[in-house]
Amino acid sequence: MSKVISGFSKRSKQEKINWLAENYFEKNTHVVEIIQQYWNTDEKLQQLHDDFIENTLTNFYMPFGVAPNFLINNETYVVPMVIEESSVVAAASLVAKYWSTRGGFKTTVLGTTKIGQVHFMFEGDKKELTAYFTNNKEKLVAATASITKNMDKRGGGILDLKLVDKTAELANYYQLHVTFETKDSMGANFINSCLEAIANAFRNDQIEIIMSILSNFVPGCLVRAEVSCPIADLGGENPQKFAEKFYQAVQIAQIEPYRAVTHNKGIMNGVDAVVLATGNDFRAVEAGAHAYASKEGAYKSLSHCTIADGIFKFWLDIPLALGTVGGLTALHPMAKLSLEMLQKPSANRLMEIVAAAGLAQNFAALRALTTKGIQHGHMKMHLQNILNQLGANAQEKEKITTYFDGKTVTHAAVVSKFEEIK
Ligand code: MEV
Repeated sequence: MSKVISGFSKRSKQEKINWLAENYFEKNTHVVEIIQQYWNTDEKLQQLHDDFIENTLTNFYMPFGVAPNFLINNETYVVPMVIEESSVVAAASLVAKYWSTRGGFKTTVLGTTKIGQVHFMFEGDKKELTAYFTNNKEKLVAATASITKNMDKRGGGILDLKLVDKTAELANYYQLHVTFETKDSMGANFINSCLEAIANAFRNDQIEIIMSILSNFVPGCLVRAEVSCPIADLGGENPQKFAEKFYQAVQIAQIEPYRAVTHNKGIMNGVDAVVLATGNDFRAVEAGAHAYASKEGAYKSLSHCTIADGIFKFWLDIPLALGTVGGLTALHPMAKLSLEMLQKPSANRLMEIVAAAGLAQNFAALRALTTKGIQHGHMKMHLQNILNQLGANAQEKEKITTYFDGKTVTHAAVVSKFEEIK
């Protein structure tokens, strides 16, 4: 039987589930049950989630946790995080508390501009194209008037529009390169609508528009988060040694791409968790962050460290295109709640909070890696996960956790210990 289906999206949810169970599972008795188990009993709420995408069958849970004690520019935040990786929230909480007694995080928004481009082909004389662009530039901006009206009122809109010659890299290829300020909205729809209006006003017999789209490379939408303290205040047995090893770990991530990718992945553990919790687009943030990490032609650490004059300083520069109005931020009840928890931040403030979460995560990872090793903390959470899978009760959990203190946790060893005490 052919498994290609037409008109799938028009079928009812139940019909879609039945079709899936019948056609793509060998034993399908569990399929409907599992899918329905995750339906929300509140039909209105379920409908809201169903409508986010096409062909929704059910919901996929991710844990929503919080990391308290984030002191950022002298304000204390409880930071919402959506993430499945077991050690991330624990690490963020520990590090937030640690820095809260050492001055907290200092953050600065370094820029808020975003870019969109109309990509087009033109085979004629460049001078004619330049003249056509110059003569029509005002008209092109005016073509977006109905779209930019509200954004203009909020102090945003189109900041710059220029013609870029890319023919040296690709024959006949030019761009209209447009700079935007989108205030508290992430701005993807706004930017794309403006670009399409500009493209329509620009096209003529000689100009072939290829596409009009925002860029997720946003080096102009940049935030810095920083922590610093006297080296002596870092604590531990030998704070000077700790600072030196930590500094070297960051230097390694500056020059070694294999390490830099993992280093930055650790930063994104914190960043993505808050981006997701606040209903923002984590794919856009990921793409932009990694492109920024490669901006000098080699992939490098997004964070930096200095130890000079007895001061330890550790900071992160990261491009973040975020919104606190519009999109999912207004629709998803949990995203709304997250933003309320963060005291309804502006997009700039959210950039600062997200960057602080990223820096905290990076600090936690480097502190663990350069001291006890990463597995120490991971193993504790790993053990809890295995115990949950095995259905251990509180008493059994306590006994087995004590037993494994300082020992290597393997699935087999935990199962064997569990069976022994059962
Ligand atoms: C794991 O999710 C993240 C780390 O690998 C980051 C790092 O190595 O810096 C621990």
